[in-house]
Amino acid sequence: MNKINNLFKNKINQQTPIWFLRQAGRHIPEYYSIRSRAKSFIDFCLNEELIVESTKLPLKYYNLDAAIVFSDILMIPWAMNRNVKFTKNVGPTMDPMLPDETKIIKNINIPLLLKPLENSIKTLRRDLPPSVCLIGFSGAPWTLACYMIEGQSSKDFINTRKAVWGSNIWFQELIETLVIYITDKLEIQAKAGADVLMIFDSWSHMIPNNFFKDFAIDPIAKIISLLRSRDINTPVIGFPFKSGGSLIKYSYESNVDCVALDWTVNLSWALESINPSIAIQGNLDPASLIPKHNPFLRENVESILKKMKDRKFIFNVGHGLTPESRIDSVKQVIEIIKEFEI
Ligand code: CP3
Repeated sequence: MNKINNLFKNKINQQTPIWFLRQAGRHIPEYYSIRSRAKSFIDFCLNEELIVESTKLPLKYYNLDAAIVFSDILMIPWAMNRNVKFTKNVGPTMDPMLPDETKIIKNINIPLLLKPLENSIKTLRRDLPPSVCLIGFSGAPWTLACYMIEGQSSKDFINTRKAVWGSNIWFQELIETLVIYITDKLEIQAKAGADVLMIFDSWSHMIPNNFFKDFAIDPIAKIISLLRSRDINTPVIGFPFKSGGSLIKYSYESNVDCVALDWTVNLSWALESINPSIAIQGNLDPASLIPKHNPFLRENVESILKKMKDRKFIFNVGHGLTPESRIDSVKQVIEIIKEFEI
């Protein structure tokens, strides 16, 4: 059994488990040669050999407690025929859905379209040591709706917010459809051998506050209850990025087993406010791994460990590692954690 699943089983008298969001990506030089073997980023995410290789890549460098399967949250919009493309220096794009568009793509066979993801997880679970937790994931309904409506990333997701206020019924229908597809994607990953599931809500901080429960909390609770009704009891980590005070309600009402915190969250506040029966993951600033010399790194990592020592806690960054992250700094953080004595 791995340390992360142990923690969910209430075994907290062990060393703090650690892994990094976006650990398999662009800060590791070999990532680029793996990626160049696929014609496009979508082809990469559909190629079993490349998925398996890139998922294992960070474990060659680091002593980690988890591997996150290589894929992308936008594989669901891709499966929904939204013409998803990843263009260099532009980021992801797709056909924007009009706020009054009524034809929402129904009856998409997610398990069939994402078969390579399922097969890769089967291979990975066979290949990886049992001490490494294998994490499967999905985007949250709100964040996927944001990309689908805007057709790209945005600084304020104004068209999505406009849809919330103006075309609420159409928007709710989109969210409900996404809830089903996300559940299907999480289900195939759990059944194939993922030990933990994570749901990324990268744009939850764009939700108008009075709709936070409707679009950030209730859809997650629905996904989890659907999973449980399908006999999937895999623990779920929720990541409502930069949601501030709304994290409290999220931690009590979404039914996640763990809440991931971004780097802006004050951990003393989190300890007092977040539902004490669930685990916490986070929240080192990924930017602290960029400078050649960071005089605060050790002190900061130790201070996180000290604060969280009596809590079910998974050490991680508060958002994905950037391409500029230094391998030496990541290694240093892992060493500090392994050396740390309570
Ligand atoms: O290492 C891992 O964590 C596993 C794989 C993973 C990727 N994307 C691979 C990827 C995961 C967990 C994701 C999640 C994801 N994808 C999120 C949620 C987390 C977050 O960052 O908030 C989001 C919003 C996306 C959408 C997405 N995919 C964007 C905005 C981009 C381009 C810019 C960027 O931030 O990297 C991608 C492409 C992408 N997904 C890359 C990787 C390694 C880079 C592709 C490349 O250029 O090689």
